[in-house]
Amino acid sequence: MEVFECVSTLSSIRSYIQKEAPEDVVMEVLEAGRLAPSAHNDQPWEFVLIRDKSVLKGLERFCLSGKFVSKVSFAVVVVTDPSSKWHEIDSTRAVQNMVLTAWSRKLGSCWIGRLDREGLMNYLGIPSHLNVLTVLPFGYFDERLGGGGKFRRSPEEVFHLNRFGERI
Ligand SMILES: Cc1cc2nc3c(=O)[nH]c(=O)nc-3n(C[C@H](O)[C@H](O)[C@H](O)COP(=O)(O)O)c2cc1C
Repeated sequence: MEVFECVSTLSSIRSYIQKEAPEDVVMEVLEAGRLAPSAHNDQPWEFVLIRDKSVLKGLERFCLSGKFVSKVSFAVVVVTDPSSKWHEIDSTRAVQNMVLTAWSRKLGSCWIGRLDREGLMNYLGIPSHLNVLTVLPFGYFDERLGGGGKFRRSPEEVFHLNRFGERI
């Protein structure tokens, strides 16, 4: 899928079908995260791949705004290192790389932001000096239903030409 097509069709997916992603696609998604750029090339991230169904099911109780996490093919828990100043910005770029790569392979995802972080870190054995940015579920979905469509502020509202407030 061409990059702009991927960006312009990407939608958060919260309902998944039962179909496993092949190993090479799973690893490609992780690679897309690892290859992201970062300030000073700090790479302040770790990615915990969850494929085991019982662990996925166990994640559900910590993903307060994403109970669908237990229904997916795999999930990636994005762990950041707060000792690096831009850890969340850098890791968010890794997230977008992964989500777009997955989308180009017909896998949907959705940023899960409201988490029981402490419980999740205990559950997965994540050291306490690190931070969990998000849990990303990845799975196939019914393309006829797709996402919810794009609802964005209009170009007129958000684009400015040469000076703030001048229309393009
Ligand atoms: C930082 C961030 C946190 C989000 N947290 C959640 C969440 O906890 N649960 C959820 O279902 N969606 C979450 N989303 C997805 C947004 O609701 C979604 O991206 C937005 O409504 C636009 O819809 P779209 O992604 O389908 O274009 C989050 C997105 C971002 C960027």
